[in-house]
Formats: sequence, structure tokens, C-alpha cells
Amino acid sequence: MSAHGDPIPMTARRAGALTGAAEVPGDKSISHRALILGALSVGETRITGLLEGQDVLDTARAMRAFGAEVAHLGPGEWVVNGVGVGGFAEPADVIDCGNSGTGVRLIMGAMATSPVTATFTGDASLRARPMGRVTDPLALFGAAAYGRAGGRLPMTVVGAAEPVPVRYVVPVPSAQVKSAVLLAGLNAPGETVVIEREATRDHTERMLTGFGASLRVEQTGEGRVIVLTGQPELRPQTIAVPRDPSSAAFPVCAALIVEGSDVLVSGIGLNPTRAGLFTTLIEMGADLSYENPREEGGEPVADLRARFSPDMKGIEVPAGRAPSMIDEYPVLAVVAAFAEGVTRMPGIQELRVKESDRIAAMAAGLRACGATVEEGEDWMAVIGMGPGGLPGGATCATHLDHRIAMSFLCAGMAAQRPVTIDDAGPIATSFPVFEPLMEGLGAAFTRAGA
Ligand code: S3P
Repeated sequence: MSAHGDPIPMTARRAGALTGAAEVPGDKSISHRALILGALSVGETRITGLLEGQDVLDTARAMRAFGAEVAHLGPGEWVVNGVGVGGFAEPADVIDCGNSGTGVRLIMGAMATSPVTATFTGDASLRARPMGRVTDPLALFGAAAYGRAGGRLPMTVVGAAEPVPVRYVVPVPSAQVKSAVLLAGLNAPGETVVIEREATRDHTERMLTGFGASLRVEQTGEGRVIVLTGQPELRPQTIAVPRDPSSAAFPVCAALIVEGSDVLVSGIGLNPTRAGLFTTLIEMGADLSYENPREEGGEPVADLRARFSPDMKGIEVPAGRAPSMIDEYPVLAVVAAFAEGVTRMPGIQELRVKESDRIAAMAAGLRACGATVEEGEDWMAVIGMGPGGLPGGATCATHLDHRIAMSFLCAGMAAQRPVTIDDAGPIATSFPVFEPLMEGLGAAFTRAGA
């Protein structure tokens, strides 16, 4: 089922080289944070390059429901008039975050230390995902949460009227949990301390500092220690959102496996907490280079040039790299099917609780396409079949998961026979222009019935 409407089956087939330049949309993680921090500052925050995918549009709608003014000026250009830290109003209706775990978890954090009550829900995928990982630390601030069994949505969160600061060691490597605690800490008096054993994406820390919060980060024996001073007056900002490396992953990986390809994807955010896929691909022997490295909006950025890479070899991806490429394992599994040898991916248990169980979804779809895949609770291994070696000719289930959908369309561009996905609808959550962008590079997609 599509997130919004009937399922949209789609087929990708081999159709010659992918060539040319492409501009992928803005970063999803940074877009959510820009809207939420804009809503928590007093005055006008201007955003350019905002991702206008459904996930982010749902967060924009939620910020309006909590009292901020959010206006769309033009493509990617938005302005938020915020209500300030502690200024959230009580929403008049249920907050529907659609497919977005980041949206719901960050918003729960942002409202948990204000005296308001809000009920959250989402689509079937989001309603199956665990929220206890966020509501447990929010309870330490004094918030209460009432949801379905297993901490599932729909869920009502009652914000703490008199919040206390918290010291919290994040038990799973999750930027969403870290960020929820930091956003809650904004309206608690005194210092909130968040400790992560493994570094995850740090956009919240960077952006909080940009908005004028007092935040310091230390590396200690316990891990990465983030200390935030509560109740700051956040100053509105002008934010240029860099292009999303997690979206760039699809044209880059497709170019590596489609014979004759040469693709330039420009202006990609390469924050080291996000760029693990590209390091891994280069280790596998991909013809991938960073051109014109620069800094934009406080984030490192470069143009990525990817060419067909017939000599890629399977590797063991270091488990410690997982947080910096957590959303890219599905498309890496596709690339691995076209490399020589085995690609082992340990330390990826978090993939089991994403928009779908991504280990199960990739293993099932790749097997249906003729690959051999082994899996355990926290690992997956793909036995490579070499360039052009994947038979394809299957229909893959996407389980309301945009990245599973795009990964199997990439597989179909290089496999011997076409690959069909049961529903391309969820792609709009993160990469609404995926289909025309890939077709512009030379991809051949057909929608069922078209
Ligand atoms: C995100 C964090 C990651 C990632 C998600 C976006 C974020 O989730 O998978 O797509 O913006 O903070 P976890 O925090 O659950 O690892």
C-alpha cells in the first residue's frame, strides 16, 4: 500500500548508460530540524533548499499545529515564525506524522517539556515502530506517554509542566533519540547531558549552536558527551539546506553498476557522520570522486562523480561505520550483488526497526532476483554475482519503505531482467523527484498499466 493512496507498482529495466548531471533534493534530517528549531525560536527563520518530501511537509504541518507560522514562499523556500522555547500551544487535533520516525520522535522531544498535551499517529509503517526509545528518556524530564502495546502509536504525550534536566546515556545508536532528548532539554532549567557511545549524525548539535544555544561536546571514556544549557533564547536563522547524501546514494550507486555510466551529483552534504557509504564504495573499488569540496550552511559539501565500476570487490564493512551510513545499507546491498565476492555488513541491528525491517526486506527481494543473501539478527552478507550478474525478473515487496523501493529500482537498471516493485508511492516521502531525475540520467521505468 502506498503511504497516500493506492499502491503504484513500478518496473525498472536495463536501458544503456546513465549519464549527465543531477541535483537531488535537500537533506531530510536537516530539513526537519530547520523547521522545528525555527518554530522554537522567536522571529523569522528563512530556509532555502528545504526538502519538500511528504515527511518534511508533515513536520511543517505539525509545527503550525503547535502555533508556529510556517509559510511556503517558492520551491524549497520557506519561512518560519517561531513561538520560542517553551512557547508551543496545544494542538487542536491529532498530529499525523505520516511515514516519518524522525518527524514524530523529534517533535515529541520538542513538546515534552512544555505544558501541552498532544496525540501522535502515522501510517501503518510508523504505527509499527517503537516509540519507547524516546518516551523513556522523556519521562525522566517529567513527561508522560500513553500509547498502544509495545510503545506504539497512536500515542498521547503529556508535556512536563515543571521539567527537570536529565543526564541520559542513549542505549542504541540513534540520532533521533539523542535529538529528542536535546530538544526536550531546551525547556528544562539547568544542564541536560546526553551521552552517546557511538557518534551519530550531529545536525541537531550543529544547528542548536547556530541558533545560539549553549552546547558543548566532549569525547570521554564514556563516549560523546553533549552538555546543553536549558532555556536559551534561540535566535532565528537563515538556513541553506545541503543536498541529501542519502538521496544522492541512489544515482551514485546506479551509475556504479550500470555499464558505461558517468554521473555528476552536485552539492552533496558530506558531514562525516553521514558519508560512510561513499567511503565504503571507494574501499570496494568504486570509481567515485569528490569534486569541488567546499562548505555550505555550516556543513561540508562536494560534487560526487560516479562512473561504471566493473572491478568492485566485496568487503567487510566495519561495524563502527554503521551509524554514518545507516540508511544506505539497502542500496549498498544492491551494489554488493554486482561486485565480486562477499560483502559482509555486521552491526546493523537498527535496520530491523526502520520504515521496514530492512534486513528482511533486502534479503527477500535480492533472493527473489536470484542472489544469495545470508542474514542474522544484526548482520547481512550478500554474495556478489559480478557486473551484470544479477538475474532480476522478480517483483519485490517494499513494505511502505521508500529506500527499499528505490534500491530495487536501482537493481532493475542493471539486472539481466526487469525488476518490479509493488509500490513506488513511499518514494515521495524523501525523494519526490526520484523518477524524473533518474529518467533524466537515462533510467527506464514503467508504471503498471502505463
Ligand atoms: C535520522 C536518524 C536515523 C535515520 C533516519 C534519520 C535523523 O534514525 O535512520 O532516517 O534525522 O535523526 P535513528 O536515529 O533511528 O538511527
